[in-house]
Amino acid sequence: MVVPYKREVLTDFSVKENEKAFLEGLKTVENYLGKDYDLIIGGKRVTTEEKIISTNPANPKEVIGRVSKANKEIVEEAMQVASKTFETWRKSKPEMRADILFKAANIVRQRKHEFSALLVKEAGKPWREADADVAEGIDFMEYYGRQMLKLKDGMEVLSHPHEENRFSYIPLGVGVVIPPWNFAFAIMCGTTVAALVSGNTVLLKPASATPVVAAKFVDVLEEAGLPQGVLNYVPGSGSEIGDYLVDHPKTRFISFTGSREVGARIYEKAAKIQPGQIWLKRVIAEMGGKDTIVVDEDADIEVAAQSIVTSAFGFSGQKCSACSRVVAVGEAYDKVLNRVVEITKDLSVGDPSEKSTYVGPVIDQAAFDKIMRYIEIGKKEGRLLTGGEGDNSNGYYIQPTVFADIDPEAVIMQEEIFGPVVTFTKANDFDEAIEIANNTEYGLTGAVISKNRYHIEKAREDFHVGNLYINRGCTGAVVGYQPFGGFNMSGTDSKAGGPDYLLLHMQAKTVSEKY
Ligand code: NAD
Ligand code: ALA
Repeated sequence: MVVPYKREVLTDFSVKENEKAFLEGLKTVENYLGKDYDLIIGGKRVTTEEKIISTNPANPKEVIGRVSKANKEIVEEAMQVASKTFETWRKSKPEMRADILFKAANIVRQRKHEFSALLVKEAGKPWREADADVAEGIDFMEYYGRQMLKLKDGMEVLSHPHEENRFSYIPLGVGVVIPPWNFAFAIMCGTTVAALVSGNTVLLKPASATPVVAAKFVDVLEEAGLPQGVLNYVPGSGSEIGDYLVDHPKTRFISFTGSREVGARIYEKAAKIQPGQIWLKRVIAEMGGKDTIVVDEDADIEVAAQSIVTSAFGFSGQKCSACSRVVAVGEAYDKVLNRVVEITKDLSVGDPSEKSTYVGPVIDQAAFDKIMRYIEIGKKEGRLLTGGEGDNSNGYYIQPTVFADIDPEAVIMQEEIFGPVVTFTKANDFDEAIEIANNTEYGLTGAVISKNRYHIEKAREDFHVGNLYINRGCTGAVVGYQPFGGFNMSGTDSKAGGPDYLLLHMQAKTVSEKY
């Protein structure tokens, strides 16, 4: 009997023992920095001349690893292997597949601080954020394993005395899994294992900024007993092999998490039927956000300010769920703005290897340039209250930045910045605040801080986001508790970590027998 699912407990770093264990994790990672990693196809290690060089965003001279890079010929071979392996894997017992996830979760749990430390180094995550990222990955494995056990016998349908009807779920085929770098463990792990436990084989193309943590995870699944060829690890350029994989006639589904631009392109390309293709491809796309916290006139200002700062500047605002807009009603505006600026000025910005760091670097030079461009736009569109400066002399650091008095239609109110920048606008009343909150093409997360029951109920109905939070921040959804995914241009309305997520990786079959 499998024990009921419970979320993984986050580490309390004020406990000396935990701090020591995390420092040990950092040492373990430091001992393998700069190593080479191969592609894995059908269990075979493949080395290529061309490499992806993964570096530390806090110190770009530090190489995390050199990862072999797949080209079209190599991914073609991987596709053939995955197609062939699907013929056996699709018949494997769901219980066995779930057990592999439970075992892998346990292996990661034993090496939790090492995995978190690797995220500190490879993604620039501060300790707390890295710990939550790995815990979320463990949660996905524990949760999806149990979900598969619930779905394995299908659903009840009616039968007659001389006719037996069965309704069951069967896997789809070969899935191409394309995760982002910002939850380099959790999302990479969650999207991969959801596809695998549902009986599909997978080509995993990790994000180019964080391929080493993905390579380590593929090893864990192998250790947990995943047969060769079920998961194939093919890092490479998004535009070169990404397009090839999306277009491939043997690709049955694509599970993508990343930007609106790339997601929309994949959606469009996948709709085109290629010669030899005998199905319509399914696309699960989780894309960007422009997420708003609404502060009502009667709100608890301290709760509002703390929620805004945590949601806007956790992991330097590099979360699809991050708060990048605040709409405050009437007199709450100045109060919450002043308090947010006060708290923000006290945040520690620096090397994420240090326990005390709250805001680390952004991921790379391109992200640094893009965010700084938005900050320059912000200076023209509104009033800069704190931050606004960047320093990329060693690491890609940007000060947490607050802009006030921004028009709801302004560029920095509408476009996803994906950095430590939050913008404030004022509403005359709560209805107008919800209107402004809904006024983007996205619909991922949102929060309302209010004591007014009528307003809270209005928000439930009218604030059009996939994840709405009341009297708390808008980041940090927990697997199995707050299924996660957005509306409109934030994606295909799927809910990662929710009870219907695995169904997106399967198709239902009805068999009716007369006797
Ligand atoms: P990105 O779109 O640049 O890259 C995502 C992945 O797509 C990477 O693995 C990349 O290599 C790959 N890729 C790039 N071009 C491709 C192509 N032509 N074909 C196939 N694959 C291609 O996004 P990113 O910078 O890695 O991540 C940040 C973005 O992800 C933000 O917009 C953020 O909001 C979004 N995000 C969304 C969610 C969600 O659940 N909705 C979660 C995390 C991140
Ligand atoms: N699932 C992540 C969050 O809720 C993105 O913040």
